[in-house]
Amino acid sequence: MGYIRVLPDQVANKIAAGEVVERPASVVKELLENSLDAGARELRLEVDAGGKRLIRMADDGCGMLRDDALLAFERHATSKLREVVDLVHISTLGFRGEALPSIASVARVLLETRAPEDATGTRVEIAGGKMLSVEEVARQPGTSLTVRDLFFNVPARKKFLRSEQTELAHIAQLVTHYSLAHPDKTFHLGTPRGELLHVTPVETLRERVFQVFGSEILEELVELGDCRRELAGDSGEEPKTCRLSGFVSRPQVQKSNRNSIYIFVNRRLIRDRLLLHALTAAYHNLMPGGCFPFALVFLEMPFEEVDVNVHPSKTEVRFRQQGLVHDLVRDAVRARLVESKPVPAFPVSPRVKEPGWGPQGAAEVPFSESSMMLQEADGALPPSDFALRAGSPPAGRFDFSSAPPIEVFGAAPAQARAPAETAAPVAVAEAAAEEAQSLASVGELKPLGQVRESFIVAAGSDGLWIIDQHVAHERILFEKVLRERGRGAVERQQLLLPMVIRLTAEQQILFARLAEELAAAGFEMEPFGRGTVAVKTAPAGVAAHQIEKLLQEILDTPEAELRSLTPDDVRRKVAASIACHAAIKINTPLEPRKMQWLLDELAKTDCPMSCPHGRPIVLRYSMKEILKAFHRL
Ligand SMILES: Nc1ncnc2c1ncn2[C@@H]1O[C@H](COP(=O)(O)OP(=O)(O)OP(=O)(O)O)[C@@H](O)[C@H]1O
Ligand SMILES: [Mg+2]
Repeated sequence: MGYIRVLPDQVANKIAAGEVVERPASVVKELLENSLDAGARELRLEVDAGGKRLIRMADDGCGMLRDDALLAFERHATSKLREVVDLVHISTLGFRGEALPSIASVARVLLETRAPEDATGTRVEIAGGKMLSVEEVARQPGTSLTVRDLFFNVPARKKFLRSEQTELAHIAQLVTHYSLAHPDKTFHLGTPRGELLHVTPVETLRERVFQVFGSEILEELVELGDCRRELAGDSGEEPKTCRLSGFVSRPQVQKSNRNSIYIFVNRRLIRDRLLLHALTAAYHNLMPGGCFPFALVFLEMPFEEVDVNVHPSKTEVRFRQQGLVHDLVRDAVRARLVESKPVPAFPVSPRVKEPGWGPQGAAEVPFSESSMMLQEADGALPPSDFALRAGSPPAGRFDFSSAPPIEVFGAAPAQARAPAETAAPVAVAEAAAEEAQSLASVGELKPLGQVRESFIVAAGSDGLWIIDQHVAHERILFEKVLRERGRGAVERQQLLLPMVIRLTAEQQILFARLAEELAAAGFEMEPFGRGTVAVKTAPAGVAAHQIEKLLQEILDTPEAELRSLTPDDVRRKVAASIACHAAIKINTPLEPRKMQWLLDELAKTDCPMSCPHGRPIVLRYSMKEILKAFHRL
């Protein structure tokens, strides 16, 4: 008696229906998920012609009994679900019993499988949905599924496939990211022209990130640790825990779209607007608006807390307690960034690689072009736009989504890269982590002087530092203003004579909406007849000639933008404007004492790494870089 059953209609009808197979990468996704569900420890994938000609997945999972091997190609035949109630706590990646029949209806499929309890294996051949042969075969336990000539019988669909390289890029991204979710398993991706990925089991996610991306990218990341939050249980139930772990990039890594955000919920790769929002919110005032981080985030929660049956390709989910999950992600990521205060590295050595492809054939994959198959349509920006934005060296082209192939598709796969690295990947990873020190040491810096009366040069035990005096002061003031605002105790200055400011019609509308926030921020203002206001007090520290400019800037916020802001966002926006106008300017000579004060105060801030508009504040030319540049290392 096999394990697979055809789902009764009342269950089948409750499953999100739609297109399962859109392109070769969708086939790969289904096969990977099946192998993972089968408990495989080793997943070997071979593809040819971007998966259009051939996709073969071989695993060492639980295999299938003969009866099951036949049933697996029936629609809604699955071993993972039985009844409607099972739909509310799905613990497997698959549950619909749709993948294999969908694939088999549009390709030539060969299944070879053996369950350990069977003496022999089964070989099933099926093409365009028609069973061609069933035979007994001798083979080791596990499953191998070969899919040839995708869409051979649906020419219209075939026409819409992209170039082989693009399809291959989608596949490579998918395998790469599933390999990140399962560090304890072997993943291999091969093509006739060479191996694209080969990673062997490691103990931690950090080691897997190192295997896949290399130490340089690891240096740009902050590990989240293990963050937990209780979710509300139903009355009488035990409280449920939601766990968050993974890596996020330092604020200086700024991507132009969301394509480098990878979110796994219970080890399932998904796209989710709510979580994308939470992640971007975590970088508020640390990154310029319109920029996005790299993130590799794993959420684990009780299965019944997340509905995975909402999208035909299983790429979206719905959380039962949306708000709590959103806030957990936002707060945990934010707290970790504040706690770790990552240092932006000094862009001296060519540590940031130009995208380029190794000598192996498959290296031509235009990864920068590879819109991940799960990406949002609106996130698909021009492929060339993957330079680091603010704070990056002009030559610093660097893209996490394009980086894996550089590392992985190089002359040797990650495993066999440099001998030293192979010998002790963990040691190298740790060395990289050590180097990425915290900005907490800013407090110990000794200012040496200014460059162009704009940038403070300072010596630290861990290298040479350069600090942008204006943005440093901006950060200090921003946090001070917000703190005082939170206590309802902002410092304000009385103007000798009220300052009369003329407002445009649009500004008057905005003024009416922001009057309360402006008052709380230290502006005492009164309408002064016919489109003018009289300013009586202003926040302390803002020079008289800056007051009008500052108010105009705030009141020039586009209406549409204002509508999308929460009260908290508005508060921060006003605080950022005040800080910017009150801060020391560049081209201002500073006495040593003043420089020291600035560094000391900066060290006390929560986020000394970026100004409230997201620009970097400090750069460090690390001791390691200095020693390397002088050939002492
Ligand atoms: N690699 C494999 N090893 C062992 N069993 C497998 C493997 N692939 C598929 N199966 C069996 O075949 C069944 C059908 O697979 P299929 O992918 O079509 O459906 P599913 O995984 O149950 O659901 P979904 O359509 O959501 O993927 C599975 O339920 C499983 O029992
Ligand atoms: Mg499946």
